[in-house]
Amino acid sequence: MDRQQVSMIRGFFVLASLVALVVALPSNHTASRTDTAKRATCTVNSVSSASNLSSCSTVVITGFTVPSGETVTIAAASGATVTMTGDIVFSKTTSSGPLLTFNTKNINFNGGDHNINVRCGSSHHRQAQTEVLPNPTLFVKFKGSGTFSSVTVLNSPAQAISVGTTDTTVIEHVTVDNSAGNAGSLGHNTDGFDISASDVTLSQVTVNNQDDCVAINSGSSLVIEDSTCIGSHGISIGSIASGKTVSNVKIARNTITGGLYGLRIKVDADATSASVSGVTYEANTVSGITDYGVLISQSYPDNDGTPGTGAPISGVSFTGGTTSVSVTSSAYTVVVDCGACSGTWDFSDLDATGGKGHIIAANKATISGGKY
Ligand SMILES: *[C@@H]1O[C@H](CO)[C@@H](O)[C@H](O)[C@H]1NC(C)=O
Ligand SMILES: *[C@@H]1O[C@H](CO)[C@@H](O)[C@H](O)[C@H]1NC(C)=O
Repeated sequence: MDRQQVSMIRGFFVLASLVALVVALPSNHTASRTDTAKRATCTVNSVSSASNLSSCSTVVITGFTVPSGETVTIAAASGATVTMTGDIVFSKTTSSGPLLTFNTKNINFNGGDHNINVRCGSSHHRQAQTEVLPNPTLFVKFKGSGTFSSVTVLNSPAQAISVGTTDTTVIEHVTVDNSAGNAGSLGHNTDGFDISASDVTLSQVTVNNQDDCVAINSGSSLVIEDSTCIGSHGISIGSIASGKTVSNVKIARNTITGGLYGLRIKVDADATSASVSGVTYEANTVSGITDYGVLISQSYPDNDGTPGTGAPISGVSFTGGTTSVSVTSSAYTVVVDCGACSGTWDFSDLDATGGKGHIIAANKATISGGKY
C-alpha cells in the first residue's frame, strides 16, 4: 500500500465514523447526553449537589458544611479528577459513619491540603466521643480505586480513614490529625488508617493520634512507606480475626515516635482459618515506645499471653536496611508470642535497644540475626 492509499483508507474511516456519529446522535439521545455530560465539571457545595455525580469526570468540592444527620458520598465517573478548594466540615451529628465516602473507580483525588473536619466546639474530642456519634464510628471511607492525595482528616470522632478499595490504589501526603485528642486523654479508638484491601500503597502519610497509626486487617500486596506516626499505637498487622489473611506486606522507611507500640503483628487468640505471611520491615525508625518496640503475638487481645494456633504467622523479616527501635525503661524491645509460627525469620537488620529486653517464644519459627 502506498501513502496515498493509506491516507484514502484513513479518510474513509474518518468519514464513516462522522456519518455514524451524525446518524447515532438523533437516534440515541441518552448516549449523546451522557457523553456530553461526562466531560462536565460538577461543583459540590452542598449535600444535595453531591447526590448524583455519576456522569461527572471533573468534580470540584468547594468548602461546605454538612448538616447534622447527613452523610456525603462522592461517586463520580470512572477516572474522574476530584479536587477540593475548601474544607468539608461536618456538624455535630448522630449519623452513623462513614460520614464521607469516596466511591469512584480510578479516582484522581487531590484535597489541595484542605481539611475534612468535625466541628463540635473547642473541646471537640470529648464531644466527639460522647455526643457527635451515638457509637463512635468511622469518619472517612475510601472505596473504588485510584490516587488519594493532599488532604487532612481532622479531629475524627473515632477511626479516621477506612480503606476498602477494590483495585490498585495509592494514598499519599494524607494527614490524620487527632492531636487535639491528647488533651486530657480524650481521644480513643482514633485509628489513622484501617486497611481491608489489596494492592494499596500508603506513602508519606502522617498520623497523630491515640490508637493504631495504620492497621492492616486483611489484604495482600500492601506497602506502607516513608510515613510518620506520632503518639500512636504504631503500625499494626491486625488484629487478625477468623477468616482474614494478610500477605506480602512491606513496611519501609517509616518514622514512629512515642506511643505504646512500634511495630506489631496481632492475631486474635481465638482466630481460625486466618494467616499472616510475608511481612518485611525495612529501614524504619522507631523511638520513645513505652510498652513494646516490636510485638508479634497470637494472644490478642493480650499482648503476651496464651497464644492461639488457628492463624499461623510465617515469613517475617527485618532486612533491606536497619530498622532501629529504641524503647523507654518500662518497655520490651521485642516480644514474640507464637502458638503457630514457622519458617526462617531473618532479623539481621533489626537493631533494638533500651528497656527491659526481649521475650522470644517463636514456636517453630527460627529467628536469625539482629540485635535486641
Ligand atoms: C443508547 O446508548 C446507550 C449507552 O451507549 C445504550 O446502553 C443504549 O442501549 C442505547 N439505546 C439505543 C436505543 O440504541
Ligand atoms: C444520575 O444522573 C445520570 C445522568 O447524569 C442519570 O442517567 C441517572 O439516572 C441519575 N441517577 C439517579 C439515581 O438519579
